[in-house]
Amino acid sequence: MAGHKVSALDIPRNAAVVVLTGAGVSAESGIATFRDSGGLWEQHRVEDVATHEGFVKNPELVWRFYSLRRKDALRVHPNPAHYAIAALEEYLADKGSFTLITQNVDGLHSRAGNKNVLEIHGSLFKTKCDNPRCPASETPFDDETTDYDALPKCEKCGGLLRPDIVWFGEQLDRVTEAKAMHAVGECEIFLTIGTSGVVWPVAGYSRLAYELGARTITANLEPPANVQNYREVYLGKAGEVVPMLLANVLND
Ligand code: APR
Repeated sequence: MAGHKVSALDIPRNAAVVVLTGAGVSAESGIATFRDSGGLWEQHRVEDVATHEGFVKNPELVWRFYSLRRKDALRVHPNPAHYAIAALEEYLADKGSFTLITQNVDGLHSRAGNKNVLEIHGSLFKTKCDNPRCPASETPFDDETTDYDALPKCEKCGGLLRPDIVWFGEQLDRVTEAKAMHAVGECEIFLTIGTSGVVWPVAGYSRLAYELGARTITANLEPPANVQNYREVYLGKAGEVVPMLLANVLND
């Protein structure tokens, strides 16, 4: 599949826009994507570091893994794609509406200046109690610790703390998911950047937008698995393609 020729999108100032991002948008910042690494995350099996079963089996390993990922994310910087998406939010601020749904947990969109960000798979920089009967399990707190020397415990119940990441087999946060679905249902332009389109339920959002008549657009290194949901397909590196697509916004 060749993809469309990249040129500046015409986005009215009063448009309702949803941007959905995945690991590809952070690749040029130096954060490895998931499915390009042969199913291993930093040499670990996904089941060991990204499932609740893995956490119960070996919480030390899982905390070491996420501490390293925190360090990596703090070391890198947003790239031109992140900044162009931040400019889009500002461009729409007066008359339009803007929601950014990101599957990334690296915090780079907020660091680039985006405000209305739904971190639908959680955040590397939040921690919560792992005990579902403890109220603190519902209230993640900000946490940039990268060197826990013992397993961190909940102040309320004494149970183990865990990273606020949505692991495989877990439900999305209900409120975040409801906000995301609402924005997708209302949008006129749905722009996806840097996601393989294989992880559900988020991979289905483009279908919903498409069926409701939105202008669905994807910018990705290669055609995503759900490419049929997009009316426009732009292939290339996010750091190059996204600023070109949003040139009118950036020059405004
Ligand atoms: N520019 C644009 N796209 C890129 C770039 C780049 N520089 N580099 C890679 N890509 C594309 C890849 O071609 C791939 O289609 O980004 C996509 C990344 O896909 P994944 O690694 O599967 O990441 P993502 O879609 O975000 O994964 C979804 O899966 O493992 C879970 O919870 C995790 O949030 C993650 C979810």
